[in-house]
Parts: sequence; structure tokens; C-alpha cells
Amino acid sequence: MHVVRTQQFDRDSLKRLFELADELEGKTSATLSGKILASLFFEPSTRTRFSFESAMMRLGGDVLSAENANDASSSAKGETLEDSIRVMGQYADVIVLRHPDAGASERAASVSTVPIINAGDGAGQHPTQALLDLYTIERELGSVEGKIVAIVGDLKYGRAARSLAYLLGKFEGVQLLFISSPNLRMGDDIKEYLSEQRVAYEESEALEPAMRRADVVYQTRVQRERFPSEEEYRKFWGQYVIDRPLADSMREGAIIIHPLPRVGEIAPEVDDSPHAVYFKQVGYGLLVRMALLRAVLGNESYGIRL
Ligand code: NCD
Repeated sequence: MHVVRTQQFDRDSLKRLFELADELEGKTSATLSGKILASLFFEPSTRTRFSFESAMMRLGGDVLSAENANDASSSAKGETLEDSIRVMGQYADVIVLRHPDAGASERAASVSTVPIINAGDGAGQHPTQALLDLYTIERELGSVEGKIVAIVGDLKYGRAARSLAYLLGKFEGVQLLFISSPNLRMGDDIKEYLSEQRVAYEESEALEPAMRRADVVYQTRVQRERFPSEEEYRKFWGQYVIDRPLADSMREGAIIIHPLPRVGEIAPEVDDSPHAVYFKQVGYGLLVRMALLRAVLGNESYGIRL
């Protein structure tokens, strides 16, 4: 019923969800007419909130939105997340939740009478971002099987990077390169999972060789809001910047993706490179979120363990 972590998906459900996303391209319908989506965002967002709301409207549904729930909801008066969810569930048929605490979506799901979709829980997970990242890879490269995927940047706090690594753990043929400072390495929970799944990964601090090897480079933002101080954040910001010469060093057909927003880690001069796919990725995200809402609110679960 709920979508809180990428481990809930398997290859069959991904295939079915992505086929539905393909079908929905360029379409609007009344499939979810009469249904209401509530977005409850306790952290800033542009793409995730607007794309879920746009997806819902394109499927004929309606939207209730708290884009700044910290100040604009009863949370400002001290209401617990659990109580807010119990209440919102009586107004809406699905709740899309973004929250600064890891595990918040699971807490919400444990008391909710309607489906919870995790739109990012602190440094925990961001499953719908990972779905759209994988969909982007498949749309652009045909399949992720056998591909080398470099995940670059803040792998410690980056929930999008974490969710994507878990999702790619479903594909034995994928090779992962984790490029980060030693202080911002991918968590042991994920590395253990990948070992169990027999998915190969390497860790390195060097971006240049990874740019030349990879079929996919997933560049990410240093997660300023998770660092203990601005000074600590500044030590890592600007460490990995993809500029035009680095983009030009990539293999033919290789792609650069990014969950966005970028804050300097991809130079604007890369935007018209044939490898740059990060703005096209935004459009793919809308299709994936439309498909996901159909799965969560429709009569057919598409094999997802919701
Ligand atoms: C990501 C997030 O919020 O985790 N953004 C997004 O949803 N597109 C990545 C980020 O903020 O760096």
C-alpha cells in the first residue's frame, strides 16, 4: 500500500511500471477523477512536489498542498507527524510526504489509513527519485543490464543516491562505481546489500577515470542541510565538478544524470553536451510519478509490494 523504500520493487514490477509510464507519455486522462492527493512537505522541493501534483492533475485527480508544512501546518503548533497523518488521511486518498527525519515515512505509514509515498526522508531514502533515475537510464540506453554506473558526490547523506544504489542492486549485471570523499562514502547498509545481491561495486575518490569508463554518471549535490556546520559543508562543496572537458571525455552514448537541483557540480557549459540528460530526466519523472499514482490508487498494483 505504501511506497517507502526502493527494496519494495523487483524487476518484474519495475518493468510493468515502466511500461505504464511509456504508455502515459503525452496523455491526460480522467482515470483518477474523484481522488485527492495531499502533498505534505516539511523540506523544500521543486521537482518532486510539482511533478506529483502535475501527475495527479493529468490523471484527472485533485491536489491539496502544504509546501511549507513546518510553518503552514499544525506542526508549527507542536502537532506530531503521526497526528497530522491521521488527520490528512481523512481528507486525501494518498499522502506524498517529505520530511527531514530518516524513517519518517515508515512512521507515517504505520498510522496511516491511506497510502504514504515517501518523497524523501532526511538522509534515508527517496524511492520515487530512484525510479525515475532508472527509467531515464532505460529510456536513454535501452537497458541498465551490463552497464557501468558511477554515482558521484555526497553518498553519505544523499538519499537519492542511496535509493538508486539499492534499486540497481536488483540487477546483477550492473557495475557500480562510488566516487566520493572518504568522509562521504556510501553507507555500509547498502554495500552489504549489494554484496548479498552479488552486484559489483568499487569505491574511489577519482572522478576522471570514472567519467571515461562509465555508461551512466549520476552526479549529486553535497547535502548542505545535513552537515553539522556550514564550515564542514564548505570542505566538500566544489570537490567534484563536471566541466566540459570531463563531459567530452565520456564514452560515446554515455549519459550524465542528476536528481537536481545542481549547485555548481555540473558546469552550465555541459548543458548542450550530447551526454547531458538531466533536464530530459525531469520529463521522465513526470511519467513515472503518473504511473506510480495509477499503481497506488488504481485497481491494479503492477506487482509492487505496496
Ligand atoms: C533530491 C532530494 O531532495 O533528495 N532532489 C530531488 O528530489 N530532485 C536531491 C537533492 O536535493 O540534492
